[in-house]
Amino acid sequence: MAQKEDIVFPKGFLWGTATAAHQIEGGTTNNNWWLFEKEGTIKNNDSALVACDHWNRFKQDFDLLKKLNCNAYRMSIEWSRIFPQPGTLDKKALDHYVTMINELLKRKITPFVTLFHFTLPIWWCNEGGLLNRDKEHLEHFKQFCDVVAKTLKGKVKFYNTINEPSIVMLGYITGTSAPGQKNMLKAIKALGTTMLMHAIAYHTIKSVDPDAKVGIVHNVQITKPYNPNSIMDKLFTAFADYCFNGAIIRSLKKGKLPLQIFSSHRELINTNDFIGVNFYNFIRLSLRLKDLAVPATDNPVCGKKGLCVSLGWEPYPEGFYLAIKLMHNAFSHIPMYITENGIGTNDDSWRQRVLIDHLKMLHKAITEGVDIRGYFYWSIIDNFEWEHGYEPRFGLVHVDFKTQKRTIKHSGMVYAQIAKSNALPATILKKFPEEIYKPQF
Ligand code: BGC
Repeated sequence: MAQKEDIVFPKGFLWGTATAAHQIEGGTTNNNWWLFEKEGTIKNNDSALVACDHWNRFKQDFDLLKKLNCNAYRMSIEWSRIFPQPGTLDKKALDHYVTMINELLKRKITPFVTLFHFTLPIWWCNEGGLLNRDKEHLEHFKQFCDVVAKTLKGKVKFYNTINEPSIVMLGYITGTSAPGQKNMLKAIKALGTTMLMHAIAYHTIKSVDPDAKVGIVHNVQITKPYNPNSIMDKLFTAFADYCFNGAIIRSLKKGKLPLQIFSSHRELINTNDFIGVNFYNFIRLSLRLKDLAVPATDNPVCGKKGLCVSLGWEPYPEGFYLAIKLMHNAFSHIPMYITENGIGTNDDSWRQRVLIDHLKMLHKAITEGVDIRGYFYWSIIDNFEWEHGYEPRFGLVHVDFKTQKRTIKHSGMVYAQIAKSNALPATILKKFPEEIYKPQF
């Protein structure tokens, strides 16, 4: 029974976890990330060749979801598996995804399906990838969305079109993610194409299945000036904030491609039945430093304790609240789902604290009237963390990558308790009595 001190979430709230095909399935060797990995670009020379072998172990992993009392799960369908060649459908791969969805439904877990989570078929990239906006080229993506929506109609109600357009753009700026380029003009073009693909996915799914709920996933990046007293740092930070957040929001609201002066794409307007929000950390920016974006963890509070290993991401629970508010102000007329939130750390008690601090902020936003209907922790299992390889561990469940053995972490047990009671129970809150964690800017 609920206690007076419990922080209770709205009835019917979805408690889930999120993953992406390439990061867990193994064997996704028909996409651009695989090419990128083969160039030796990944930390420790890791690759996603085997990853968590989820393609073969999905039933075991869905049982883990059940053990964690999850009633929702966000996964992606790998385009390069369904269409390994242009126009050639791999029926076996499609059936495999249908089996996965059926297994989720059997366990009474609501699936959210993402159509583009960072990976693209090699053949499509050879035809220009995100830098080609020809109608016939984009038709291939439409065909993929059409096949998925027709196949999953009646089984899947929620679709995420694109995962994090602004992060896709980074693959053309920093050179550290696929396709590993450093060209601002190309980055702007790729971002624009990604937004057009969102509109294509939205309209295609809705024409097949008008009852489906479709929405993009935006990663809200909170930016801070490296030196709060420097006008240059502040200006640069405001510009970066616009590139990461403002331009995406404007694109969806006004039908303009991000960072492009002359563009009008009315097909982008009203293309979200809900908005997906991912939130992880903040970055500090300065034009004067070698690396424009400074890892938050040269901040002594978090950095010295080694809590945010490998990625250098410092949590910022209040930033989560700000991110939610930002998106709510822009899209107050539609529901919101937190489609990703988590931390890569080897210190599981730190993960628990960070989780609880973020959920408190989420609850605060709900009590202030934001219509948030679900939360997806990233991730159920430790997995392939893109250019950082297997080092950052985001899972609620530990994976031994040598044996593929899964072991539920304490944070997993805490999450299971939260999901079961649809609340932050007083018993858990008492274990973490400190103030919300505040970074020092
Ligand atoms: C991405 C995930 C990734 C996570 C942690 C998000 O930006 O959608 O694929 O694993 O961040 O880095």
